Order: sequence, then structure tokens, then C-alpha cells
Amino acid sequence: MARLSETSVMVTTNDMIFVGTEDLGISAGVDKLMELAKLPGITQTTPVTLRLIFEMDEQKAEAAPAAPAPTAVALAGDADAGKKVFKKCKACHSIKDGKHGVGPSLYKVVGTAAGAIEDYKYSTKMAQSGSVWDAEMLSAFLAKPRSVVKGTKMAFAGLKKADDIENVIAYIAAKSE
Ligand code: HEC
Repeated sequence: MARLSETSVMVTTNDMIFVGTEDLGISAGVDKLMELAKLPGITQTTPVTLRLIFEMDEQKAEAAPAAPAPTAVALAGDADAGKKVFKKCKACHSIKDGKHGVGPSLYKVVGTAAGAIEDYKYSTKMAQSGSVWDAEMLSAFLAKPRSVVKGTKMAFAGLKKADDIENVIAYIAAKSE
């Protein structure tokens, strides 16, 4: 799904959908083709992919509150308080760009794809997780790293307090600026 503008969103199907040619109303054409080409048969289904664009009408768009950006949610935490929480991460992580320890640098990690740093050797599970570290995913991961990314090599039990999680995310985001 892609957001095209404030008021429109595009949804594309990933897989092809097979639709009978009868449903599409092109059976007659297919019959004619079979006759012309002297073919015994042509499969009477055809693959289609859909691309739908939803437009919101302007008036409603104005009334609807804008969706918060992921970092705005993360920044709801208190970065100063997060500095203390980050002490638990420091043994393995730095927030300096390109500076890796046991764990990868967390510079600009908020909002980016998981396992995306090229010169850090992630576990296969992290490299292939396909997750994006938005505030929600990061919160879930930091609460229970090994149940959110099964097979991660991050040897950390997790943060128990929701406040600590919000604050440490805010700290990482603030330090990445
Ligand atoms: C004992 C070391 C250790 C501690 C402590 C630790 N981590 Fe990690 N962390 C790692 C390792 C190793 C990885 C790479 C995991 C993998 O490849 O499976 C990682 C990965 C991550 C990632 C994913 C990075 C990416 O590029 O996708 C985030 C985010 C993260 N850690 C945040 C934290 C935070 C925040 C804390 C503190 C609350 C913390 N970690 C504590 C070792 C640690």
C-alpha cells in the first residue's frame, strides 16, 4: 500500500488473481480467437493484478486528523529519562553512525528497516525479518527481543516498563539527529 498524497492511497495486489473470462465479459472474443487460430482450447481464465486508488474527498480530509509519523510517537517519550535506560544497551550498542559493538550502531534506527546496516553481521533471522523499526515494532522488540525476532542474537531479556521503552526510543531518536 502506498500513500500518494494527503488524500489518496494506492493498494496493489501482490499476487495475480485468476478471473474467468466469462466474468470479465470477454468470452466471445476468446471463442473467436480459438476459431481463427484453430486452437482446440484456450484457458478460460486470465490473470489480473489490481491497482486501486482510493481518494478521500477534500472536506473529509480536512476533518480527519493527520496520521502521526512514527517518530512523532517515539518522541512522546522523555529523551533525558531515556539516557539512563540506554545504559542497559551501552555494553553492546553505540548511537554513533557506523560504530558497531557486539550489536549494530543504533544511529537513525527509528523508522528504518531491521537488519539494514551493510557492514554489520546480523543473525540470519534479523537480516531476513522484513520488519521496520517504527515505534510499535521497536516497543514490542525491546519488551521481548527473542519472542519478536525469534532467533535474534541480541542477548537481552527485555525492558519491563513501558515508560522505559518509550523513553529509550525517544533518546535514540534524539541522539540520531
Ligand atoms: C548483550 C548485548 C546487547 C544488549 C545489552 C542490547 N542489544 Fe540490541 N542488539 C544486540 C545484537 C547482537 C543485535 C543484532 C541482533 C541480530 O542480528 O539478531 C542487536 C540488535 C538491536 C536492534 C536492531 C538493529 C537493526 O539494525 O536492525 C535494536 C533496535 C536494538 N538492538 C536495540 C537495543 C536497545 C534499545 C537495547 C537496550 C534497551 C539493546 N538493544 C540492548 C545486542 C545487544
